[in-house]
Amino acid sequence: MAFNTLHKYHYSFTTTLKLHNMLKTKVLEALNEQINAEQFSALLYLSMSAWFENKGLPGFANWMYVQYQEELTHANKIFKYVVERNSKVELKQISQVPVEFDSVLQVAEQSLEHEQHVTGMINNLVNIAIDERDHATHSFLKWFLDEQVEEEASVREIIDSLKLIDGEAKGNGLFMLDRELRKRIFADET
Ligand SMILES: [Fe+2]
Ligand SMILES: [Fe+2]
Repeated sequence: MAFNTLHKYHYSFTTTLKLHNMLKTKVLEALNEQINAEQFSALLYLSMSAWFENKGLPGFANWMYVQYQEELTHANKIFKYVVERNSKVELKQISQVPVEFDSVLQVAEQSLEHEQHVTGMINNLVNIAIDERDHATHSFLKWFLDEQVEEEASVREIIDSLKLIDGEAKGNGLFMLDRELRKRIFADET
């Protein structure tokens, strides 16, 4: 092969290699947005943990601290995926999280509401991946779909317990639930 032809071949070959795995703009933007949402979730739960600590409920604080750690692993999982797809992570500003809450039940309900919002975002991301015919991203997002189902169910369980306690001797039930939640430990499932 003459040098010129070889050079041309080499150039187009490496360019194709470089672009080959890259995410399409719409998918990339949505994934970067999701990293931000997971980081926001982390800080929201850390703030809830702080509120519980302040109220003298270390078990509930532990529950939220574990959630905080989990959300960080979610953000990092997407971070690694974007890098693997030869694309650029762009971190965005994280909105101010609430720092005051009305009651234990309200914190749990707000956390469920937030998880439902995140589920909506993941569903939307899946739609984008399908529209863009990005099968790898679609497959990657399946883990998040399952995770959201688990997370919503787990918060709902605590809300149910709190509502049950409310009808009975409140202080004692809350104390017992707090002791139960103290046992939760963080395990990286990503
Ligand atoms: Fe998450
Ligand atoms: Fe979550």
